[in-house]
Amino acid sequence: MLSICFLTFLFFTVGDSNTWSDLDIPIEHAAYFFTNNPSIHAQCLADQARCPYYEQAKSLPPFDVACWGYEPNCKNNASLVQCSGDSHGWTTSKEKQIYEFWRTADFGYIAEKRNELREFCSPSLECVDHLRFCRAKNIYIDFRHTETSKHIDRYREDILKPGDIGGHCKLNRDDLIKNGDHKSPLQSWFSELQFFTEINDTNSFNCDITITKPTIIIKLDSGYNMYHHFCDFINLYVTQHMNNMFSKDIQIILWDTSKNDYWSFFSTTWTAFTSNRLIHINEFEGKRVCFQNIAFSFLARMFYGFYYNMPLIPGCTQTSLFRSFQQYIVHRLRIPQLGPLKSNQIRITLLNRTTQYRQILNVNEIVQHLRNISTNENSEYLINVVDYNINMPFIDQLNITHNTDIFMGMHGAGLTHLLFLPDWAAIFEIHNCEDKDCYWDLARLRGVKYFTWENEAKVYPQDEGKHPTLGTPHKKFTNYAFDKYEFARIVRKMVKYVKEHAAYRSAKRMKYSTTNSIPALEAEQRHTKTTKDEF
Ligand SMILES: *[C@@H]1O[C@H](CO)[C@@H](O)[C@H](O)[C@H]1NC(C)=O
Ligand SMILES: *[C@@H]1O[C@H](CO)[C@@H](O)[C@H](O)[C@H]1NC(C)=O
Ligand SMILES: *[C@@H]1O[C@H](CO)[C@@H](O)[C@H](O)[C@H]1NC(C)=O
Ligand SMILES: *[C@@H]1O[C@H](CO)[C@@H](O)[C@H](O)[C@H]1NC(C)=O
Ligand SMILES: *[C@@H]1O[C@H](CO)[C@@H](O)[C@H](O)[C@H]1NC(C)=O
Repeated sequence: MLSICFLTFLFFTVGDSNTWSDLDIPIEHAAYFFTNNPSIHAQCLADQARCPYYEQAKSLPPFDVACWGYEPNCKNNASLVQCSGDSHGWTTSKEKQIYEFWRTADFGYIAEKRNELREFCSPSLECVDHLRFCRAKNIYIDFRHTETSKHIDRYREDILKPGDIGGHCKLNRDDLIKNGDHKSPLQSWFSELQFFTEINDTNSFNCDITITKPTIIIKLDSGYNMYHHFCDFINLYVTQHMNNMFSKDIQIILWDTSKNDYWSFFSTTWTAFTSNRLIHINEFEGKRVCFQNIAFSFLARMFYGFYYNMPLIPGCTQTSLFRSFQQYIVHRLRIPQLGPLKSNQIRITLLNRTTQYRQILNVNEIVQHLRNISTNENSEYLINVVDYNINMPFIDQLNITHNTDIFMGMHGAGLTHLLFLPDWAAIFEIHNCEDKDCYWDLARLRGVKYFTWENEAKVYPQDEGKHPTLGTPHKKFTNYAFDKYEFARIVRKMVKYVKEHAAYRSAKRMKYSTTNSIPALEAEQRHTKTTKDEF
């Protein structure tokens, strides 16, 4: 059943001369992609001259090894997950703890959602439980009553009336209505699909516009905040896996019910997903639009979804999902990895917030102290102080972050940058301001080591901190000075961690060794959990 859906929803134009440039996946993902796309695998083998993944295609490992983990019979599941900590009563055994982390936070999530997938209008529309994700072929949406130009509310749930959406299919209305229990703009597609209508014949759609390209439609959380906007992007990536759809020649449509145009400081990120311009549904106002292939994306605020308010089982770290997301974004945005440095110096980036709150009052003193230590102790690290503000293009910020071994900053959305650190990196949330799980959990998802301030007696808040509107005491709304010796002590621990990381050592050897270092590398990796997984 699964493999059939898979093939019918294979969005790839075979024989197209742009096939390979539109595919543009990281080389590390090629084997996994070929396992899931046998016909493209064959095409690559037949196109040695142009297929950039020919070597991977030629030596494709067996399907039960070259797989992401969600494919039926994949043995390569949970391959990166490490659960050295206690689950604090969430599960009764280590196996269950690993499985639970994989199921909720890694590709196991997709395995589970693929099992939920079923037809709601046969054969055009398929969805998972609670309509968190759907996909459809040959449907129409009638935008003649949406009035987007009259509204400023981005999340109206009543813009489609009975008959405004439908397809030529047999509707299971009972199941559709039963799955309306998560109805909410960023939790499900129920509001948009509740009036899905059976139409006898596709000719009666009378479309003004027909979109033939594979399409993903998404409702966005917030373009203004990196933490929230990357909830959108990770869900888009999960959607691509769900749908086995990685070509860059796709159409992305923003379901925003207001007249306001989308703007985001982070908008470069879209170019990793599509080479086509984004369409905002206000462009469709007054028109009937037909879609040949459309997926309704997973959304940013789903219960047990990625990654906002996600209950994450304690004791575990490192998912293949977030690691591959990093590889995918970094590859498609062409961000190079210039490290590890030959000098063995650790590249430290300190985020110096210049916002009103959560500044480091004595940042200059701390930096001077750390530099002095490094100068006196074998130049162990280099410190780069950055202010990631609106004047520095996001792509340049990502370039710095990706070329950082230790990233440090106060609690705040800028720490979302940790998603783009190299595998051996560590993050120092200098002070979490009593919001202790947010970036710790994100670091666990990504698999970078998390550090934070340990000694409350050695941090000096400027004042109590008051919530600007509520007036109640709030640790996030003040600035902090830190004991420089204690700060340096934590930095030392982090430097040690990075230098001893197997991935750091093997990346360094790979980069600078002139002889063939492969045997040594394999020996080293045998000690780590990463052995099974090669991407
Ligand atoms: C994960 O892989 C193991 C074998 O390595 C297999 O027994 C298990 O069923 C797989 N789990 C899932 C959910 O696919
Ligand atoms: C749909 O087609 C069937 C059989 O061709 C016909 O009996 C029915 O009346 C049609 N329904 C509508 C709404 O046109
Ligand atoms: C990233 O930074 C390096 C070194 O500064 C530079 O050579 C490269 O062009 C940058 N790449 C991007 C995509 O910004
Ligand atoms: C950090 O930012 C503050 C405020 O803009 C500035 O005064 C300070 O010099 C900066 N420190 C460093 C080390 O760049
Ligand atoms: C730098 O370190 C040396 C040796 O520990 C110390 O004597 C000196 O006072 C330090 N200088 C500064 C500016 O901290």
